[in-house]
Amino acid sequence: MTSAEVRRRFLAFFEARGHAIIPSASLVPENDPTVLFNTAGMQPLVPYLLGEKHPNGTRLANFQKCVRTNDIDEVGDNTHLTFFEMMGNWSLGDYFKAEMIPWSYDLLTNKEYGFGLDPQRLYVTCFEGDENAPRDVESAALWKGIFDKNGVTGERIYFMPAAKNWWQPGPNGPCGPDTEMFYDLTGSLTKGMSKAEYLKADDEQKVVEIWNDVFMEFIKKDDKVVGKLAKRNVDTGSGFERVCAVLQGKSNVFETDLFEPVLSMIKADAKNYHERSARIVADHIRTATFLIADGVLPSNKDQGYILRRLARRAIFKLGSLATAPGIGAKIIEWYIDRYSAFYKMDKVQIGKAFKEEEEKFFKTLEEGKKDFEKGIDPFILWTTYGFPIELTVELAREKGQTVDLEAFNKKMKEHQDLSRAGAEGKFKGGLGDTSEMSVKYHTATHLLHKALHQVLGDKVSQKGSNITPERLRFDFTHGAKMTDEEKKKVEDLVNGWIKAALPVHRIELPKEEALKTDAFHFFGDKYGDIVSVYYVGGTDSSMEGAISKEFCGGPHVENTSVLGNFKIQKEEAVSAGVRRIKAVLT
Ligand code: ALA
Repeated sequence: MTSAEVRRRFLAFFEARGHAIIPSASLVPENDPTVLFNTAGMQPLVPYLLGEKHPNGTRLANFQKCVRTNDIDEVGDNTHLTFFEMMGNWSLGDYFKAEMIPWSYDLLTNKEYGFGLDPQRLYVTCFEGDENAPRDVESAALWKGIFDKNGVTGERIYFMPAAKNWWQPGPNGPCGPDTEMFYDLTGSLTKGMSKAEYLKADDEQKVVEIWNDVFMEFIKKDDKVVGKLAKRNVDTGSGFERVCAVLQGKSNVFETDLFEPVLSMIKADAKNYHERSARIVADHIRTATFLIADGVLPSNKDQGYILRRLARRAIFKLGSLATAPGIGAKIIEWYIDRYSAFYKMDKVQIGKAFKEEEEKFFKTLEEGKKDFEKGIDPFILWTTYGFPIELTVELAREKGQTVDLEAFNKKMKEHQDLSRAGAEGKFKGGLGDTSEMSVKYHTATHLLHKALHQVLGDKVSQKGSNITPERLRFDFTHGAKMTDEEKKKVEDLVNGWIKAALPVHRIELPKEEALKTDAFHFFGDKYGDIVSVYYVGGTDSSMEGAISKEFCGGPHVENTSVLGNFKIQKEEAVSAGVRRIKAVLT
């Protein structure tokens, strides 16, 4: 079955059952600074799952674009992708288990209008129960009824703990037990299996998950179930690419019609073909195409940084495959031709953004090579020039040198942990409350800190900071009460920087490098080997000329111009030698 037919059948199935087909939301979540990308179909629907009325009714279905980058190093194996489409349907307080489970079975197995999968190769899991919610005997009974009626014999329903069969979008929000469907890829496990055999088959990837039905009845706060939702919802998700692989009898997603032509294009062109590199190119260019289509541009921050990494890695891999120039652009065009029936994509805009990034990368490659000659740390080559480790290794090999991969990987891992913690809004020195006003006060605090240094001298050091959506509070060492003139000078400096509309950037550096930049930090504090530094002013790629630099987890505004007018309300003593400022933005 072609991928186009899979798409058509999924949507037609739910349309015929009263569902409104809604468009995919952008990959970049609206009004949610805590995640960089939509990673599941339900994410843009959270307000509705929490009870808000959806304009299209109580039955919805769609294909949602998703980006997940936590498994980026696995890309190139049989299943991992950085971009994928999630097929999903939702009941907002409408139908529940008794409708959803039979529908799932029907769509998966019906030959005429469904996917026509062999029922004898299906296995399912259900939630075993814990202190949050009871064992899901209802779902299990529904499955048993269906299997019995269709002559699907043998053991194939397994109860699992919350680690497997509980779904939630994060520590807060709607959540619930789920039932997951698995398909036997080998076709040789047809008589049902004991739980131990099933677990082993899962481990060996002989069975793969093809659909997940979540029964969202509960609400969590700080990772604890605190009650039931006003209405019971259904949230389902199925990975389109994976389902296509199963239906096309392929052992990996890159052999499906979604990717195979791109792989062939690369193969025909490459003088030095290597399957895994070609898969990485096919994946990363597709993701880059979709990100640019959704308005992301390469930069050193947030979504733009991810896009830059993906684009540069793909460009570099194309180089190592020894393809002819211009193949990147051809691949992008192929994807756009393929997907523009379903998504809005501007060929000119996407082609231009990719080409510009390619040029920038080639330029920094030249500069980076000079630093490489000087023996600069591979991790710095990566953070400063976007130098993929493979390139550093290759350059080193040419010179008969080796690269300390272990040290590099350790720093990369810290960097990833940092990014992840940053995405969760949790990391050291970061802001817990990410409301728009608090984020503004956070950036204003950095400006105030810098202004105090300029007016009172470099002995000033931060003792504490507290931010609410209403004001900022900043404690610092200083021996005397500030004069009115000093306060006025500080205000004028901060307001001057706000008026200057300075950009705010984030960069990650090894700690020793970051210390050399003179960025503000707590001396007594423990930082990881890799730190995140925010700087105000300077440029995308350089801290030079920056007004303020601080070790910080963010988040911050993108430009100081949004801060408004800065005013000190109070300046007072907290203890001997420590002063406190309260200030507002109006
Ligand atoms: N939200 C569920 C998932 O992503 C359906 O698996």
